[in-house]
Amino acid sequence: MKKLLDLLTEEVGAAFEKAGYKKEAGRVSVSNRPDLCEYQCNGAMALAKEQKCAPINIANAVAEILKESPVFESVEAVMPGFINMNISSDFIYRYVADMSGNPKFGAILSDPKTIIVDYGGPNIAKALHVGHLRPAIIGESIKRILKFMGHNVIGDVHMGDWGKPMGLVMTEIQERQPDLPYFDETFTGEYPKEPPFTVKDLEEIYPTASAKSKEDPDYNARALEATLKLQSGVRGYRALWDHIINVSVSDMKRIYEKLHVEFDLWNGESSVQYLIPDMVREMKESGVAYESDGAIVIDVKKDTDTKEIPPCIVVKSDGASLYNTTDLATIKERVAKYDPAQIIYITDKRQDLYFEQVFRAAIKAGLVSDRVTLSHIGFGTMNGKDGKPFKTRDGGVMRLEDLINDIQNEMYSKIKENKDIDDAEARQTADIVGLSALLYGDLSNQAVKDYVFDMERFISFEGNTGPYILYTIVRIKSILAKYEAQGGDIASHKLGVPVNSYEKDLMKVLASFPQVMEGAEAELAPHRICAFVYDLANALNSFYHETKILAEEDEEKKGQYIALISFTKDMLETCIDMLGFSAPDRM
Ligand code: ARG
Repeated sequence: MKKLLDLLTEEVGAAFEKAGYKKEAGRVSVSNRPDLCEYQCNGAMALAKEQKCAPINIANAVAEILKESPVFESVEAVMPGFINMNISSDFIYRYVADMSGNPKFGAILSDPKTIIVDYGGPNIAKALHVGHLRPAIIGESIKRILKFMGHNVIGDVHMGDWGKPMGLVMTEIQERQPDLPYFDETFTGEYPKEPPFTVKDLEEIYPTASAKSKEDPDYNARALEATLKLQSGVRGYRALWDHIINVSVSDMKRIYEKLHVEFDLWNGESSVQYLIPDMVREMKESGVAYESDGAIVIDVKKDTDTKEIPPCIVVKSDGASLYNTTDLATIKERVAKYDPAQIIYITDKRQDLYFEQVFRAAIKAGLVSDRVTLSHIGFGTMNGKDGKPFKTRDGGVMRLEDLINDIQNEMYSKIKENKDIDDAEARQTADIVGLSALLYGDLSNQAVKDYVFDMERFISFEGNTGPYILYTIVRIKSILAKYEAQGGDIASHKLGVPVNSYEKDLMKVLASFPQVMEGAEAELAPHRICAFVYDLANALNSFYHETKILAEEDEEKKGQYIALISFTKDMLETCIDMLGFSAPDRM
């Protein structure tokens, strides 16, 4: 399908041509004066300058021709030379009817590509905290948008599972349980299947170890040694590390599940260590990387740079590899295994410069060809009401699980206040609606911007919120359920030419979906989908308030209303699925 605005532009362009002007002047946009008209074309103004004549004369000539067009209900040329148009009810109806029969609701799909989304990025052995919310849910939504658009998308969590934190945890475990076989280098038997700690222990072990290492140089040295032993493959350390990974990952999965975040790959920094020695050797041999003050570096600055881009350090002077060494090796592995057309990284925007360096180094070293697009989506901070990064009441770092529970509990109290409903159902509904509040509160902002976590606003059933969107869907579901209970058959009805302006307005919003998806895909922007669902929910509610639906006596009209709200529901549900949440049946 073509986008609605493109169809309108073609029609108006043809009229310009017929009037003796170039068709490029016919570009149509949604009116910025909805009180005057629905769509507008400003092409006569620019054209008049070239032609040295009055714009209103051109606009008049074009409008005369367009008055004959079945696409428009009314066309008017107004001073100084605008063309104001209202679309014909029949045309918008046909367009939306076509969309409703299309499996992607008219979204225009490009050739399917393999795309890797690198998101989440949690670090093993530390509890997930609020800072892990944005990379997870923005990444998940981008993944779902790209999947909807027909791409083969692979989500990789890319855990931090290989650095010094691992050595710290192992050192602290050894302090507490020195007799474990993992630390006995003469031990040749099988290691225990059960981990010697729980996830609760781990959450406490890491901060303890980290604090001790800062105070005690000897402890710190032991942690570094343990890290080295792990990295060089000492058997007991590997076995203990496996336990840390398993315990940590199963807990992460449990929390990500609450957010509807699901990864295809559970790879981490450790997964590509085997590639690093050869990769670095090749970089040195080809001359891309060279030695500087004992370190191995790649120059990545360009003449066109307006700010200083420091070289990418691949190996430190002490021989250790770094965060970016691993990222480069990961690019190498992904290219070899999946041949992606694009790799998208979702992290805090403070890593902007870092990714610029890594991407340039990867291209320079030939790890990717120029057919591969490397993209970084850098997001802003979730702040508290004080405008500073969000903290717990006592100023600590809030665990992600607590944040999710808090919003779901608030929602539960709110639901219980409003209505007499049994506990189990209230809980279930609160979990679904609370999640929508959290995800929508975040995703409705352009990712790069900071935003304020405002619990009361997010859980409100009114305004631009997740619960408002769900409330709208539930409203439609309940009308449809009543209709069916009265013996109606929803699927038997078809859309019809709109009979009132509210029905037409709703169709116009629906008709913008292909355009919305084009923008959301091109800009990797979930907030565009939020803006669309909000417009759509508003249009649906206006229609609902102004139209008798079930009470309509004319069966044909009633049937077309049922078809329209049912399609609107499908559209809303498809969209919220791309945002990562779903609607309950009642609320
Ligand atoms: N673990 C990293 C951090 O905590 C984020 C990982 C992002 N992904 C990547 N490929 N570097 O900052």
